[in-house]
Amino acid sequence: MVNKIKSMKAIQYLVISFVLFCVACNNSTENKNEQKETETNNMKAGITEKPFGTFEQKPVTEYTISNANGMQVSAINYGGAVTKIITPDKNGTMGDVVTGFESLDGFLQKGVPYFGALIGRYGNRIGKAKFTLDGKTYTLPANNSGNSLHGGDKGFDKVYWNIDKQGDSSLKLTYQSKDGEQGYPGNLNVEVIYTLTADNSLKIDYTATTDKATPVNLTNHSYFNLSAGKDSTILNHELELNADNYTPADDLLIPTGKIATVKGGLMDFTTPKMIGKDLESVNAGFGKRGFDHNWVLNKSGNALEKAAALYEPNSGRYMEVYTTEPGIQFYSGNFLDGTLTNTKNGQKYVKNGALCLETQHFPDSPNQPTFPNTILKPGETYKQTTIYKFSVKK
Ligand code: BGC
Repeated sequence: MVNKIKSMKAIQYLVISFVLFCVACNNSTENKNEQKETETNNMKAGITEKPFGTFEQKPVTEYTISNANGMQVSAINYGGAVTKIITPDKNGTMGDVVTGFESLDGFLQKGVPYFGALIGRYGNRIGKAKFTLDGKTYTLPANNSGNSLHGGDKGFDKVYWNIDKQGDSSLKLTYQSKDGEQGYPGNLNVEVIYTLTADNSLKIDYTATTDKATPVNLTNHSYFNLSAGKDSTILNHELELNADNYTPADDLLIPTGKIATVKGGLMDFTTPKMIGKDLESVNAGFGKRGFDHNWVLNKSGNALEKAAALYEPNSGRYMEVYTTEPGIQFYSGNFLDGTLTNTKNGQKYVKNGALCLETQHFPDSPNQPTFPNTILKPGETYKQTTIYKFSVKK
């Protein structure tokens, strides 16, 4: 009898344990599903498309790449321009950190200073709008006080780029620049890939090939204000540049050919410095005060290395710039004057309202034999990679 009771208790115990085990199993599956559901809800990763206008009878689309953290990067066919970069601040609140317009009409108004655009065939200035290559002198549009700026009157910022989606985090932009276009020799095939990575970086990969020797210097002209519209200027941003030297320039911003040290001077950003600190003491050419210079990055060769870091103390947003290029143009938005219309959320882009960090070869290199080479020859492939990585510091 005692044995019978004992074995019944054992069975009861086993049944209860089994039931408890099953409940536990079920719960944990439910939890996992819940977690997955929440993850899926948060994960809006992928690419969406929105009509943005029409240019030269072709539809302009705004493509938006989103990653699992909710960061977004948008770009359009016109100029291959980056139209939005939406990143979290230190409290997780999302905000757009680049300048731009509500629609294509904004981009087409007179005097848009290359907002977000791809720049080419030659980023920055070529002195006297001329260069000589293999004994032949080429004349370019003199669109900037007798010099040629950012590829001429109709540079790559004002042309239609084809865009193809690649997977759910990249856009491939292509443009074929014709032999003789804006005075430059050779048919140039250009490909640019914008990728939004899982670690909140916008990675830009550029490649180009040509059928005649030609200067090539490609960059992106995004204007950043890491306060995302909360602060009307970038004067309180802190900037660090990994550059012990810069290329001094004349009053029209053509380099003298010298490489000068920044150490201890107004151009010294080797440790983080508030942009407003020395801005009014610096001659930015054209009778302006501010920064509009090319810094010589501390690197040899074309490895991908850190070039700059930008920090906005109130939002906590921090942006690092990595590049394969030898130089970076830090432009403090000296020509912005608050007159552009059709801007995103009606914002006024006032003087020093945003800044550019344009990774590049040095200005006027085709006329400066001591600067790193910018001539691309048939059979070679031009390559440049730049990363803008976003995070926060608390
Ligand atoms: C140049 C500035 C120019 C600006 C156009 C910059 O890359 O260095 O001088 O005014 O582009 O917005």
